[in-house]
Amino acid sequence: MTVTIIGSQLGDEGKGGTVDLYGEGADVVVRYQGGDNAGHTVVVGDETYELSLLPSGVVRGKTCVIGNGCVVNPETLFDELDALRERGLDPDVRVAERAHVIFPYHRRLDGIEEEDKDEEVGTTGRGIGPTYEDKAGRRGIRVGDLLDEEVLRTRLEYVVPQKRAVVEDVFGKECGEELDIDELFETYSGYGERLAEEGMTVNCGDYLQSRIDDGDEVLLEGAQGTLIDIDHGNYPFVTSSNPTAGGACTGTGLGPTEIGQGEIVGIVKGYATRVGSGPLPTELAGVEGDTPGYEGSEAQPLSDAGEREEELATYIRDEGGEYGTVTGRPRRVGWLDLPVLRHATRASGFTGVVVGHIDVLAGLDEVQVGVSYDLDGTEIDTVPPTTEEWGRCSVNYRTFDGWPEVDWDAVASEGYDALPENARDYLEFVESELETPLYAVGVGPGRDQTIVLENPTT
Ligand code: GDP
Ligand code: IMO
Ligand code: MG
Repeated sequence: MTVTIIGSQLGDEGKGGTVDLYGEGADVVVRYQGGDNAGHTVVVGDETYELSLLPSGVVRGKTCVIGNGCVVNPETLFDELDALRERGLDPDVRVAERAHVIFPYHRRLDGIEEEDKDEEVGTTGRGIGPTYEDKAGRRGIRVGDLLDEEVLRTRLEYVVPQKRAVVEDVFGKECGEELDIDELFETYSGYGERLAEEGMTVNCGDYLQSRIDDGDEVLLEGAQGTLIDIDHGNYPFVTSSNPTAGGACTGTGLGPTEIGQGEIVGIVKGYATRVGSGPLPTELAGVEGDTPGYEGSEAQPLSDAGEREEELATYIRDEGGEYGTVTGRPRRVGWLDLPVLRHATRASGFTGVVVGHIDVLAGLDEVQVGVSYDLDGTEIDTVPPTTEEWGRCSVNYRTFDGWPEVDWDAVASEGYDALPENARDYLEFVESELETPLYAVGVGPGRDQTIVLENPTT
């Protein structure tokens, strides 16, 4: 059996926490896309772990695999491993030999291109896009290549001069150490040696299938969210991989039947957040000083209503700790958006949803949910295909009475019926609109602060 965990919005829905929660019953936890652009938080008692590349299953000591669909920065890999070891954990991490490697020139090019663009994406600057570009361009260097010095040198000698030309001739910048073949060879063959010494590399699909055939439970952890999926997201304000369920197949080497026979769980934050540029139709007033870089979402002078929205956004941002795990950027905040969730439910075929952050919304007089959009005079109930159209959507809301602040730890231990009635109304509305059962409700960041209705790994 497999269980796949997917972000249903724009990232930071609480995937790491859910992987940790359901990880109890799993034997292997695998990431299938993205790289160290992710920021997944796991909170256990007083301990908080922020993981950018390693699967969240490391916290429970599960076997963790970085799948072939990922892009791997070896420096981050070893830094995260060392940091966890220093905290007393004993991580068992394997890396797909087919995964592509992020090199320093990818990060440099990520930065240069962002600077050069009129409408910057607001990337995490980790070189993610340029690495996937090289993968698609058949000039990438893979984890398996780091283990063979001859292959590594040959590939660097092919690709580095091209990158130098791009930096110098296209962008008119100077090259530094990040484009020095000998320097790169030295450092990256060293990473290869360490991977080999620690026996970390695997033939991902074969490895996972054999674990499944032995009766093991595999939990697949998506990074990012559906609306920043390169195919199903709001292009070009997207990441360069597929967080949606199809990515779980191509990014691991497990077949669609294997993934599809299992469970696919959509993670939903009880409101909307976004880091980086692009539309956010249900957005409350923008982040001060932030320039979203997308025409439709330029900050407007604040009216009274705008000031109230700004206060509300600040309240939710602070209550929910909505500051980026990777970059520390304040996240843009808005109301829950059902067209987004319908789009995500269809694109990945969710068998269940986990809705979190119900505690963050407590104490508000009323809570709104975007139920449909008006696009150029027509009502639509899912996300239109172009970002320009999405940016033009105005939102039709349904208003719910708010719920009070309560003792969430007590609610978590007593169970679903202990939730305030208005919160239950809110959750049941979402569940019925998505025609997908509610598997769990998050009422705090901690492992025990979740009401579990269905645990697909047990
Ligand atoms: P991910 O990228 O999807 O793994 O999510 P992040 O870790 O980036 O962001 C989610 C944040 O919300 C983290 O700080 C979590 O600890 C926290 N969190 C998750 N679920 C809940 C919840 O139900 N309530 C509250 N208050 N925080 C939560
Ligand atoms: P988790 O796994 C939220 C956003 C960036 C930018 C766009 C492209 O924590 O949910 P990239 O560096 O990937 O090329 O940036 O995608 N982005 C995320 N937003 N959560 C994430 O990860 C993100 N990873 C990338 O802000 O808009
Ligand atoms: Mg995150």
